[in-house]
Amino acid sequence: MQITTTLSDHAVDDARLAEILANPGFGVNFTDHMFTVEWTPADGWHGARITPYGPLTLDPATAVLHYAQEIFEGMKAYRHEDGSIWTFRAEANAERMVRSAHRLALPVLEVPDFLEAVEALVRVDQRWVPDPEGEKSLYIRPFMFASEAFLGVRPAHHITFMVICSPAGAYFAKGIKPVNLWLSTDYTRAGRGGMGAAKTGGNYASSLVAQQQASAQGCDQVVFLDAQEGRYIEELGGMNLYFVYRDGRIVTPETGTILEGITRSSIMALAGSLGLRVEERRFGIDEWREGAASGEIVEVFACGTAAVVTPVGSLKWDGGELPGVTEPGPITMQVRKALVDIQFGRAEDTHGWMRRVC
Ligand SMILES: Cc1ncc(COP(=O)(O)O)c(C=O)c1O
Repeated sequence: MQITTTLSDHAVDDARLAEILANPGFGVNFTDHMFTVEWTPADGWHGARITPYGPLTLDPATAVLHYAQEIFEGMKAYRHEDGSIWTFRAEANAERMVRSAHRLALPVLEVPDFLEAVEALVRVDQRWVPDPEGEKSLYIRPFMFASEAFLGVRPAHHITFMVICSPAGAYFAKGIKPVNLWLSTDYTRAGRGGMGAAKTGGNYASSLVAQQQASAQGCDQVVFLDAQEGRYIEELGGMNLYFVYRDGRIVTPETGTILEGITRSSIMALAGSLGLRVEERRFGIDEWREGAASGEIVEVFACGTAAVVTPVGSLKWDGGELPGVTEPGPITMQVRKALVDIQFGRAEDTHGWMRRVC
């Protein structure tokens, strides 16, 4: 892929950048540049470019605005103590985007092109990658959408792939605190043959009303159950789940309709070295209730790129509640540390997960 670069003549000045990086929040500040490449059936991917960050001009008939033919990824770049910048399992994000593209009838952007796009942009905007203290990082958002102006319902003939970046602060500004969950019995996020395993905007749109219910109940996140039987745990709106057993097993739900997180799969790979045995299988809500009541389940945690590993506190549903911890458990913290240490270059990367960007 040939990438042309046009540097911004209104890049954020050093003083303002220092202010942003001191307290970046999440998803509110964007770097000076963005990456774009377009696709048509005749020309394939073409016109790869890095340009100053700025708004898009879209025809009101642009297909994505009507039919949501769209996919995205979420990943991070980390600055290590020596100043170098690295991504974590970027190939896995690229591969997941290929799978999402198939599901949404979008063209495939090959893994090497995805990696080149991400790395070229991070290199241009490298001053935006925060220093590692407080686990700050640069959040990277690749996305692809139907950019053809056409109201017929069919896969679009003009597609745009872009990458934008946003510095991200510590997810837990006030220390790691358990999240309280709301078990949704009114809504599901994915059905058999649906889009649950794809990272596509529609899944998040459909989760918002359940999230509103969760907030109204004083909960932080929603737990979704399978659509068919309303019995098996799937995942949270934006994170996967693990159940830690007293005997050293950790169980993560598998239903065929969850978004298979890269953090989730990394924990599977690390478990053995932490003395844990992973089971990936269907996991019923009754098993959660009974395991918690008997003391067999000693910890529950959620995992995803944004928060890495998050302890789960209480579980609430319409008519009941499973009280939970108020402080993170030791296994949760051990798993979290193992991952974060690799990401920030403080532990050896024995799996070859880190890619140096610059
Ligand atoms: C629905 C959903 N499940 C799980 C995850 C965790 O995935 P990952 O570990 O790749 O960030 C995410 C976050 O991207 C998500 O949006």
